[in-house]
Amino acid sequence: MPDGVHVPVLLEEAVAALAVRPIGVYVDATFGRGGHSRRILDLLGPSGRLVALDRDPEAEAAASAIDDLRFSFRRAWFSDLPAALAELGIDAIDGALLDLGISSPQIDDPARGFSLRGDGPLDMRMDPTRGESAADFLARADVRELTEVIRDYGEERFAQSVARAIVASRAVAPIVRTRQLAALVAQAVRTRPRGDRSQDPATRTFQALRIFVNRELAELALMLPRVVRLLHPGGRIAVISFHSLEDRIVKRFFASSAQPFGGDPRLERMAIATAALPGAPLASVGRAIRPSEREVEMNPRARSATLRIAERTSHPIPPDFGAGASR
Ligand SMILES: C[S@@+](CC[C@H](N)C(=O)[O-])C[C@H]1O[C@@H](n2cnc3c(N)ncnc32)[C@H](O)[C@@H]1O
Repeated sequence: MPDGVHVPVLLEEAVAALAVRPIGVYVDATFGRGGHSRRILDLLGPSGRLVALDRDPEAEAAASAIDDLRFSFRRAWFSDLPAALAELGIDAIDGALLDLGISSPQIDDPARGFSLRGDGPLDMRMDPTRGESAADFLARADVRELTEVIRDYGEERFAQSVARAIVASRAVAPIVRTRQLAALVAQAVRTRPRGDRSQDPATRTFQALRIFVNRELAELALMLPRVVRLLHPGGRIAVISFHSLEDRIVKRFFASSAQPFGGDPRLERMAIATAALPGAPLASVGRAIRPSEREVEMNPRARSATLRIAERTSHPIPPDFGAGASR
């Protein structure tokens, strides 16, 4: 596959999950290069609407190629969805898709700093106009913070060795290039046995920094309850995640939202005492969907994808809904 081309993952499955109604209002919260958006537009009638979001300026440039009155793009972090929709005069939607993580054009361009292939500045921000770059973080964090980030977001067993190597190396010269970081991580984990020998030793550290710099898990945990509040009864949310940290958040959120009071036992006991147990605001739809072997063969990026789907019920949304989504 040529560099810079993004092949949408679980395209048919994710768009089918939205059960698009021709007159509905839909959100693609992660436009990327618009693979899913274009397919949703194909299913919408003349009065349907699609709002797409992405925080990456390059995704915004790609979205400008879609000349369709039913389509609007907003460059925004997806946790800001309610505000982005309010600007367009929209206060309720019929479905939302989140295709998480990074796109192939982001990873394939060494200038973005995401990739172990090629050399580039250690930036890693999807939105280069906001927050600190990976290089800035590596320059300021202490061993404890570095260890926590690399362990918690990269699930790297040798997080502390990597953190110590970073602190020792930056005392000699600032760590500002992807190759420089990859080499020092390889050195730090070199002599230890590793589970997956085919993986570059720096893969986990790069994943950790990317998730941290882009606040990926916090964005997801904030976004999920905000989407549910916007959905009409019968409206769907479909989420494609690419690693277990993301998938755990989605799975737990869907499970707790499918219980009255979001699974809060205190509120539930009180309600049972007063015989006022309401229904749950969300219902899971089917089981998690994984890509077929054929899709993985054609597009190896799909191999770790999981699609989960849920539907808004007509039951009221409880107080404090979504407060525990990140746990
Ligand atoms: C996997 S790609 C989406 C690909 C898209 N479905 C397609 O078919 O082209 C994920 C996109 O989501 C964007 N993104 C990730 N997290 C985001 C967030 N919190 N807010 C806004 N955009 C985000 C990234 O910049 C990236 O372009």
